[in-house]
Amino acid sequence: MTHAQNPAHAVLSQDDLKTLVGQAALQYVVPGEIVGVGTGSTVNKFIDALASMKDQIKGAVSSSVASTERLQALGITVFDCNDVAELSVYIDGADEVDHQGYMIKGGGAALTREKIVAAQSRQFVCIADESKLVQTLGKYPLPVEVIPMAVKRITRQFEAMGANVVLRLAGGMPLLTDNGQYILDVTGLHITDPLGFESQVNQWPGVVTVGVFAFQKAQVCLLGTASGVKTLSF
Ligand code: 5RP
Repeated sequence: MTHAQNPAHAVLSQDDLKTLVGQAALQYVVPGEIVGVGTGSTVNKFIDALASMKDQIKGAVSSSVASTERLQALGITVFDCNDVAELSVYIDGADEVDHQGYMIKGGGAALTREKIVAAQSRQFVCIADESKLVQTLGKYPLPVEVIPMAVKRITRQFEAMGANVVLRLAGGMPLLTDNGQYILDVTGLHITDPLGFESQVNQWPGVVTVGVFAFQKAQVCLLGTASGVKTLSF
């Protein structure tokens, strides 16, 4: 573990920590290449920092409409996933990350595209403030993107595991993802075997993507702490 100090010993807000890790992620961007970009408030800090390197990179592959719009507004070219063979690095946030680099993601409803871009990348660099580091995944409500006609059956399958399930709403209506599907948020899980759990839930008909990122885990986590950015390698 390396540890960049906070020399001023300033009191850092959660927003400051997100800014710090967003800027620290620039060291993983390879000049002359296309970078994979995730979604969320922490990634927004990275995108803002990336603007300072925009003339040194070819562009980005984005994991959401929101990130695409932010990248383009800063003058960064966004490529379609299908037009790019492989990315050297994917940079994204997490809702939870454990000490093996396994994550829960999808708080911003972008989990499917995030997993696609992560799968296309040789290295996943997770950027997060220290509140996201956990011993065991499952306290944060697990997002699962589902086909609308399967909502009730998938809900019953999670309930049979002892979990509680809520359909995510926006303005009183089911939230629609960028892919036009629904999100279930699942609480009450204690995910001790992330690889097995991801495999199991992925088999259920109607599941588009489960928000456990075990097969697409992080290799590095830049963790924003009160004393600076810690680098965890998995
Ligand atoms: C979006 C995600 C985000 O990476 C995750 O929700 C963390 O977001 P934030 O950086 O805003 O805390 O998975 O689908």
